[in-house]
Amino acid sequence: PPAPTVVFGSLNVDSTSYVAAFPAPGETILAHGFRVALGGKGSNQAVAAHVAGASVDLVARVGADASGEFALTTLAAFGVSTDAVMRVADAPTGVAQITVADSGENTVIVTGGANLALTPAVVDAERARLAGAALVLTQGELPVDTIERLAAVTAELGVRFVLNLAPPAPVAAAALRHCDPLVLNEHEARAVGIGTDAPMGATLDEWRAIAASAVGVVARSVVVTLGAAGAVAASADGSWTAPAPRVTAVDTTGAGDGFTGTLAAFLAEGRPLDDAVRIAVAAGALAVQARGTVDSYSPRAAVLAAAGLGEQAATS
Ligand code: RIB
Ligand code: NA
Repeated sequence: PPAPTVVFGSLNVDSTSYVAAFPAPGETILAHGFRVALGGKGSNQAVAAHVAGASVDLVARVGADASGEFALTTLAAFGVSTDAVMRVADAPTGVAQITVADSGENTVIVTGGANLALTPAVVDAERARLAGAALVLTQGELPVDTIERLAAVTAELGVRFVLNLAPPAPVAAAALRHCDPLVLNEHEARAVGIGTDAPMGATLDEWRAIAASAVGVVARSVVVTLGAAGAVAASADGSWTAPAPRVTAVDTTGAGDGFTGTLAAFLAEGRPLDDAVRIAVAAGALAVQARGTVDSYSPRAAVLAAAGLGEQAATS
């Protein structure tokens, strides 16, 4: 069997209200729809990587509450292993309060809860799992010292480390330098000093050059997602643009996670960064066209077809 993609992941239960337009401070409005669904950037990315064909090992924490039960059941229904998703007694399952406007835009408030039990000590306890990984993936929703410990331990073990620094967090520069790639949106890129001087609305080609200049300085390789425009990637091997197809966005929530999980899955099987980013852009474009996060991820064959790329011959 292929070596697993280990996702050290945040997990939330999302309560999403669908509204015509966002309320102003102090205003009460009526929503026209509501849903409760599995979310959390880590859990979303784990599902996306699994749907993309990776063998996924999710390390996460939930509370001893109904949301925790719901999360475990939902992950199992997707076929994601919950062996390392533990219940903690003293904190509630992470929760995200999401508002999606008819424009397709969203706002998200996350309360970490049980996610904060993923401490650096858990990284040390999971050392054997990390050592056997094809790739280790994590996100900015976990505690900063946990992200830094993951970077240090994967560096020591010689295991590829992918960080999606969403939301932005003050992770030490030494930890960022090990990321291969560091995955950021435009806002997160600026938060770590990448593209600080770039005008808003800079082109894909301008961002490609900016990402290239951060290689070996900020991180080993860099991917910047630019919403409806697509994404750029840069590594020691070169730099690339991956334009997105024009689509109508219904719900962009979790589309970035669909992108990142897909990217990780294809990198884990040995695809080069430029191919993996093109496939991930196709996955993100499909995800924005359906409501929800994990329920909006398309199967591997559909994503490859949308990317105009096929299966590659297996490499050993
Ligand atoms: O990226 C989308 C996710 O961010 C949501 O599922 C929510 O839980 C927050 O973590
Ligand atoms: Na979606």
